[in-house]
Amino acid sequence: MQTINRIDPLRSAVSALRLDGPLALVPTMGALHEGHLSLVREAKRLAAHVAVSIFVNPLQFGAGEDLDAYPRQLARDAAMLEREGVALLWAPSVEVMYPSGFATNISVSGVSEGLCGGSRPGHFDGVATVVSKLFHQVQPDIALFGEKDWQQLAVIRRMARDLDLTQPHADAIFGVPIMREADGLAMSSRNAYLTSDERIQAVTLAIAMRATVAEILGGGEVAVALEKLREALLAGGFRSVDYAELREANSLVALDELGTSSARLLVAAHIGRTRLIDNIAVG
Ligand code: PAF
Repeated sequence: MQTINRIDPLRSAVSALRLDGPLALVPTMGALHEGHLSLVREAKRLAAHVAVSIFVNPLQFGAGEDLDAYPRQLARDAAMLEREGVALLWAPSVEVMYPSGFATNISVSGVSEGLCGGSRPGHFDGVATVVSKLFHQVQPDIALFGEKDWQQLAVIRRMARDLDLTQPHADAIFGVPIMREADGLAMSSRNAYLTSDERIQAVTLAIAMRATVAEILGGGEVAVALEKLREALLAGGFRSVDYAELREANSLVALDELGTSSARLLVAAHIGRTRLIDNIAVG
């Protein structure tokens, strides 16, 4: 595996890899876990070579968020990727990604509004801007993202469509299902922040969400089911609930009842100093 942290050698490496066939990109912020590895494995199935980017993107963290605390463990991550047969690790510094004078912002409206976009103003501008740069730098044929960040995936697909991207085309941006711990907690680099008591309580999120899905599918009123979900989280040790909403799965339009289109339950809640997100199909 080549580890590259400057643009010129990246371009040469990418051109060489693409001679062999399709190149897949798995963008990450590092602190890799089984969830990331499932993206890499799916990427290997779909493409001749896999590139992974590791970049903790300052633009997507708000003031007072966990930019400084975000786990950085490049050597460990690189060893994991090497074992998975990744061809290229793109690990630019902040100065390479955002050289002095950098002044461009990509802002996607609609799907970025509400949910995480509501509780983290500017977050999706930061995501869209860095992912657009990563796409231009690596020029992948396909890209893979975890479905845990369901809204992020919708924002990136919208951006790719609206900007007529071809490397990758919007239809070549794939979501990979959430990987869960044995008790149901969605895997996340931020789970590392949980104390052992919080880790035990955190499972309430997945359990309460499954109960909410069952209630809605059983004909329960959506608003009532969502209120019960908030109460269950607070009773189960969560400090606050950012949102608990039923949305149309692709457009992310809010739903107050189940219709014919596919629906998704999306939740963000704080436990101790950790903000956890999760989502699940309804139906
Ligand atoms: O999902 C993430 O890890 C990040 O938001 C991403 C897509 C790598 C952009 O920084």
